[in-house]
Formats: sequence, C-alpha cells, structure tokens
Amino acid sequence: MIQADVIIIGSGAAALQLAGSLPKHLNVIILTKSTVIKGNSAKAQGGIAAAISATDHPLLHYKDTLEAGRYINDSNAVRSLTQEAPAIIQELLAQGCTFDANHEGQIALGMEGSHQQHRIVHAGGDQTGKYIMETLLNNIGENVTVYENMHVYHLLMDRQHQQCYGVKARSSHDMAHTFVAAHVVLATGGCGGVYAITSNASTVTGDGIALAYQAGAAVIDMEFVQFHPTLLFVDGKAKGLVSEAVRGEGATLIDEQGFRIMTELHPLRDLAPRHVVSQAIYHHIQKGHNVYLDIAGIEDFSLRFPSISRLCEENGIAISDGRIPVAPGCHFLMGGVRTDSFGRTNVKGLYAIGETACTGVHGANRLASNSLLEGLVYGKRAAYAIQHSTNQQDFSAAPIERDIPNLPFSVSLPNQQLLKEKMMSYVGISRTRAELKQHLAWLESFSIRSLLQSSLEELSTEDITTFFMLMNSWLITSSALRREESRGGHFLTDFPFEKETWERKHIIHQIECREG
Ligand code: SIN
Repeated sequence: MIQADVIIIGSGAAALQLAGSLPKHLNVIILTKSTVIKGNSAKAQGGIAAAISATDHPLLHYKDTLEAGRYINDSNAVRSLTQEAPAIIQELLAQGCTFDANHEGQIALGMEGSHQQHRIVHAGGDQTGKYIMETLLNNIGENVTVYENMHVYHLLMDRQHQQCYGVKARSSHDMAHTFVAAHVVLATGGCGGVYAITSNASTVTGDGIALAYQAGAAVIDMEFVQFHPTLLFVDGKAKGLVSEAVRGEGATLIDEQGFRIMTELHPLRDLAPRHVVSQAIYHHIQKGHNVYLDIAGIEDFSLRFPSISRLCEENGIAISDGRIPVAPGCHFLMGGVRTDSFGRTNVKGLYAIGETACTGVHGANRLASNSLLEGLVYGKRAAYAIQHSTNQQDFSAAPIERDIPNLPFSVSLPNQQLLKEKMMSYVGISRTRAELKQHLAWLESFSIRSLLQSSLEELSTEDITTFFMLMNSWLITSSALRREESRGGHFLTDFPFEKETWERKHIIHQIECREG
C-alpha cells in the first residue's frame, strides 16, 4: 500500500495545474492510465479564452458563455470563471509559457465560434495544449510522483464516515496496487471515447465519471454532449480535429459544389455556436453531400496552423488544394460529476476537476476555448480547498473494506466498437425518443446493475474499460430520454425547440453511497 496526501487520477491540464498549485510539503501522487502528455489537453488546438484586449471585458466573455450554454449555466460560476481568466494568462506567462504575438509584440488574439470579440490566446499556432502542458509539467515539484500506465478501477470507500480514502489500480503488467490518501481527485477527462467519431484520445472513456457514480457521487447534465463541427474526415473516418480557429481566420463551410452551407442558417454564419454548425453539417451530409472547409483565402495557412497542416498531409489532403474535408464528431461533455466551485463532490474526500466535473460553467453547450480555462481555474481552486481542508487524516491504518461481493455469474458486456457505433447513431447529433428507448433497452440488457454492486477485481482491464464506457453510455442515454426539449448539445427531433419549463431543470443521477 502506498500512502500520499493527495491522489490525482488523470494527467491533463487540470491535474497538472492542481499538482503544481498544491503546497510543496504535501505528498502528491498522479496516476495516469497512459503517459502524461498523451491525453486530450495536449491535443487542444484553439486556445484559452480570456478578455484581455482593450475592447473586451470579462462581462462580455460572461455573456457569450451564457448565450452558447443556452442559459442553463450556473451564472455565478460563469461570472467568476470569466473574471479569473486574465489572471490565468498572466500566471502562465510568469511560468514561462510563450503565447503567439501580433506585429506589435502583444499577445495575438484569435476568434472562434460564438465569441463576439477576439479573445482566444494561442501558442505555437495551433498547439496551445502542448505548450501549456509543457509549462505545467515544468512547474511540478519533487513532491509529485507520477505513475504512468496505472489504470484505476476502484475507489476505496469508508462506509462509516461516507468517505473516499483511496484507489485500487492495475499496472500494465496486471500488478494490483493500493493507494490511500485523504483527498482523491478525479481528472480523467470526459467520455468522448464512447462515440465512434470523436476528436478525443482513445483513452478518454469516462473512467472518472463511472468511478464517482459507483461511489455515490451525483452525476449531472449528461445529455449535453458537444459535437465539434470540423473533424478531418477521410475515407469515412475521423482523423483528428481541425480547429474552429480556422473558421476564425476566415475559412467557410462549403459543399462539393461550393455552396456555403451556413449563410442562411444563423446570423453568425460559419461562426455560429457549435451545436448549430454541427447540426447543419450533419443534415447536409445526410442529404448525400460532402462538406469542406474552404481555406483558400487564408494566407500562410501552414505557418498559422502547423499541426493541422501536418495532420492533413499525413492523411493525403493537400493544403494547396484550398479545401479540407470535414464532418462533426463528439468533442466535449458538458455534464459530469457535480461539484461545487472548489471541485468538491458530495462524497467526502472525493473531488472532480476539468471535463470530468460539471461545475455549471458550460450549460448546455460549451463556448469555444473555455475548457482549458475551466481546467486551470478549477485545478487551482481544488488546490486551495485541499490545502485548507480539515480532513487531513492519516490513512496508513486505513479502514479495511467490507468484502464486496464477487460477480455472481459471468458478466455480459457489449462489444466496444458496436457500443461506440450505436452511441453515434442513436445518441448523437440528432436524437429521437424511439431510438433512445430502444438503445436504452439494449444498454440495460448488459450486466450494469451487477457490475455496479460487485468487485471488478476479476475482470480484465479491457472489460473494466468496457464497463466504464457502458456506464457512461447509460447515463447519457437515460438523461437524453428524460429531457423533453432540445437545448445546446441535446437535440431531440420529437421536441426540436427549447422549452421554458426546462430552463431551470437538471437531470441528476445518484446511487446510495455504498461501501467499497
Ligand atoms: C478548437 O480548436 O476548435 C477546439 C477548442 C475547443 O474545444 O474549445
């Protein structure tokens, strides 16, 4: 058994920000199931939104965030997030992060969908995530130990005190390890990997959300899934993200005949909110068209977007042709583990930050470039909460868990690829109640309930991952079936409009806190 003060599961921007912000006398462990730099954060292209120009103000950033989120956001959370954004940029600069500059030597500010101002701070052209991750990693002290290839499959729960006190994990050699700490933080990202077409790293399978739900934490807003309009689409497959910043620089969405598909659909046209643009592309493709980003008017495209240019080249798309084939794909989960403004869940000792959490800032649809921002703001706040927590118990003589029942029979789990394809078809950009019902019945035909109450010890790591994906799929599908309206990332053809009666309602899933 290994003891620490803080265990962080996941190694993206929120996790590293937390690790670097904790006082150096605390012993911190990061457990990541692949390698530190491999997750979603390092892939982030667009940037970080912050109202730092002379014509901008956090209040304008606040308004754009609420408008994109379709007013179901927690407005206090949005206010403080947007107010703290400029300081986050200053802190990154102080830590040595180099952002792109304009001709006057000031930070260059890009434009993305639904922003009314240029406020996207970016680095290395389209490599903002990579630059930020490198900066955060450099800032981590010797009090932080990183365990790579360590797959967490269980949260240790002390029933008497309704408290999480550690985790069980498996290394790539299938060796079991127990880690205990008074503070366990879930920072595993969202669950983009449950969809067949996604911009997410393949490792993003909703582990933190499934673990939290199983431990009794509240999970909220799971029906709100963001589909990014422009994934590079070659031979019927998504090959990676083509940043919204490309449209911010003037690219337009056209079909094979050069028809501009957004012109009549929204006043902001190609820079309309993501769910509007994704739905438009989706319906155009359904009618048998191909959709492209027309980039012919962008000067020095390869200099401004080096990693997108490389991605296109690797997939046989010549930038000099002036157009990039695209299709929408799953990008971001607005819902997640419900937390307060310091990352605390309703389970004592258990926190969630970054995309794993639902802090209320994104509402029904996240504004572009607010995700790195949220991770950095809440990573820092969770550090504050942990530092000032009265819960600094010593768990070296940790409560031994009550025996959790072994699986009563051989479990039945879906094929992962089939699960992803069905999620894309039935719980994707456009949903119907009939298909949601049918899909929910299919999901419930597997061993969800037994697995929720049993020890996963005897399952292979692959099967545990499938179970986590199944759990997330169930949470998304059952939430989508219950929300009888369309709003942001949840579009239901049976109820194609927003309903005022749903404006204040959230769908929350929570099971009784159980031991083990
Ligand atoms: C993008 O660069 O288009 C993605 C950035 C984001 O998701 O905010």
